[in-house]
Amino acid sequence: MNTNFILRGFGHHAPERVMTNADLERFVDTSDEWITTRTGIKERHIVAEGEASSDLGLEAARNALAKAGLAASDLTHIVFATFTPDFIIPSSACVLQEKLGISGQFCVDVQAACSGFLYAMETARGLLALNPQAKVLVVAAEVVTSRVNWEDRSTCVLFGDAAGAAVLTAGDAAETPRVVDIMLGADGSLGELLTVRGGGSAIPYKLGEAVGEEYFVQFQGREVFKHAVRHMSAISQTLLAKHGMTTADVDVLIPHQANWRIIDAVGRKLEIPQERVFANVERYGNTSAASVPVAISEALDMGVIKPGNRVLVPTFGGGFTWGAMLLQF
Ligand code: ACO
Repeated sequence: MNTNFILRGFGHHAPERVMTNADLERFVDTSDEWITTRTGIKERHIVAEGEASSDLGLEAARNALAKAGLAASDLTHIVFATFTPDFIIPSSACVLQEKLGISGQFCVDVQAACSGFLYAMETARGLLALNPQAKVLVVAAEVVTSRVNWEDRSTCVLFGDAAGAAVLTAGDAAETPRVVDIMLGADGSLGELLTVRGGGSAIPYKLGEAVGEEYFVQFQGREVFKHAVRHMSAISQTLLAKHGMTTADVDVLIPHQANWRIIDAVGRKLEIPQERVFANVERYGNTSAASVPVAISEALDMGVIKPGNRVLVPTFGGGFTWGAMLLQF
């Protein structure tokens, strides 16, 4: 495959409302001390009533398009990663297309939980390899709090809502910033360790029935932790080795922002010192598929990622799914 995948622009957006750990203490049996020491999270953004994933995605997409110097009407494809779509039908990609005021493009949703952005980027690479003239918008937007059980302290303190977006085109071999490579994997036999089971065809909604705990995020924390660290580290090593690199060649590591302890453990396993690890989980919590594009976009805005930098982005999520992406700025 000879196509070069150029990153024209990154954008992100989070809802205005911020919920701090102190706010949570008022209605959940928890403490700032517990949340901080276990996760590193201090606050998270939460949508306003009626605000959906496509609304967050719209702002992130506008931001990415502005950075790319493109209009929405230039786009040919929209790939939308989310496990919290606005609706089952229409897809969030179609809803976003309508909100962008355009029509006719290829629109599809991708669901790979917290690895969704990387799966969507890989979809975009496939589309660009087939259609070198394409201009692809990749959006990852989540209202995770719509699938959070606020009565379950072991899950509700971890999540937040946000969106990130990237615009990709094909380009010349020497052009930057570009996607060097992406590697993805999954293991469905471990699916039961992290679920939102209710509301699909296996456990359908029944008219008039109250929803139970199975309609919200449930997971076995310690197991998820262990697999997340193992898979994010292993696939990162494999991806780097494929390109004749080691972690010494990585300028910035941006892992999925689930929990500071997971981020730190991945950094240690890869022997990448903390000053080369970017984290914003303290201010966002875990925003699932949105976590990685929000972090890349912020790191760019803050000047953490500089021209010439190599950025390694490992992810892990429900399914289980995992992946690693290598970017050259
Ligand atoms: N406040 C206070 N106490 C709490 C809270 C809370 N919010 N939540 C749980 N506890 C209590 C538990 O009830 C338990 O009490 P007990 O010992 O009396 O039974 C105690 O704290 C310890 O709970 P553990 O679950 O053993 O704590 P652990 O150190 O494993 O940390 C955590 C939990 C943070 C969930 C950790 O396992 C983790 O980070 N796992 C990764 C899971 C994750 O991030 N999932 C999100 C989606 S997956 C992804 O994005 C990759």
